[in-house]
Amino acid sequence: MKHNSKLPNVGINIFSVMSTLANKHNAINLSQGFPNFKSDQKLIDLVSKAMHGNYNQYAPMPGNLELREAIAKKMDLMYNATYNPETEITVTAGATQAIYTIISTFIRPEDEVIIFRPAYDCYEPAIKINGGKTISIQLNAPDYVIDWSEVEARFTAKTKMIIINTPQNPSGSIFSKADLLALQKITEKTNCIVLSDEVYEHIIFDGLKHQSICKFTGLKSRSFITASFGKTFHNTGWKVGYCCAPKPLMDEFKKVHQFNVFSVNHPTQKALADYLKEPTNYLGLSEFYQAKRDLFLSLIKDSRFKFKPSKGTYFQVLDFSEITQDNDVDFAKRLTIEHSLAAIPLSVFNDNNKDDKVLRFCFAKTDDTIKQAAAILNRI
Ligand SMILES: Cc1ncc(COP(=O)(O)O)c(C=O)c1O
Repeated sequence: MKHNSKLPNVGINIFSVMSTLANKHNAINLSQGFPNFKSDQKLIDLVSKAMHGNYNQYAPMPGNLELREAIAKKMDLMYNATYNPETEITVTAGATQAIYTIISTFIRPEDEVIIFRPAYDCYEPAIKINGGKTISIQLNAPDYVIDWSEVEARFTAKTKMIIINTPQNPSGSIFSKADLLALQKITEKTNCIVLSDEVYEHIIFDGLKHQSICKFTGLKSRSFITASFGKTFHNTGWKVGYCCAPKPLMDEFKKVHQFNVFSVNHPTQKALADYLKEPTNYLGLSEFYQAKRDLFLSLIKDSRFKFKPSKGTYFQVLDFSEITQDNDVDFAKRLTIEHSLAAIPLSVFNDNNKDDKVLRFCFAKTDDTIKQAAAILNRI
């Protein structure tokens, strides 16, 4: 049988490639973005309690109501933003499913979607499979700042959606208030939807404040926010996230959601509902990860890698241009095979695989793992 691939250029993603290589060479794996420490035992016990209780059948389609109410309270506490838990919040199978469903709900053939590169890898295939056209705006190392006049110039009558991500994976950069005001200005008087991927909202450093899109009235009314409990509570394998949007947008989202997922696993939702009621369970996250970032950077400050400290996320970008002029994919492979340390080459997130000679390292690891990784980087 012959078939025409809808995504002919998509192969196995770089995370799987690097993790497989890391396993093969017994390397420390700072490539894929997941913690190597446990989720809070309290939360694990709550899941177990929910499973032993009455939470083993389908959850309501938009999610367990208690969880949606807890999310609404969190949005109010964090951003002074109102989302109706009955109609404006949906629990999803991780942020990835929320992103895919949002794009599938709104993007038609020939619609244009602006993304900023380096960009997380799930946006473009979802745009493509729905017939849309990705308009990439390339940001440059080491600061990854946005030139909004370029965004304005690339914005056309066909621009149906803009996807932003703050704090940003992989660069560790963040959107400032001025960035969001510029976005608000460009999109006002248009029908453009904004997808704001805020999975790292609780991981932001040096006293900086996360600028959620919902703090800007002119943007909130046209935007989806996507979020991930996996990132916030150290359990990426549970794949539970959510999205928030004004009712007219969410009504459309649910039409697709009910047929590609229907509902997300119930006991985890009940546990998260109980756990989320206590804000201290997420308010200390920035401090927790800042200590890890600072440990990593203090240990490698005299190495030949150059860096600007990450402003958010649990990723740190390191520039290796003083060490070699190898392309970043080759250097990442060499680092794994010869030095037993795996990282992600940034070119895979860039337009035309632009190579800035930088690698992304995940520091969501035990201090011991961070120290071992730093010792390797210091030897290179
Ligand atoms: C920027 C960004 N968005 C979305 C996701 C996906 O989140 P989830 O694991 O909840 O699907 C990730 C995970 O790495 C991410 O880094």
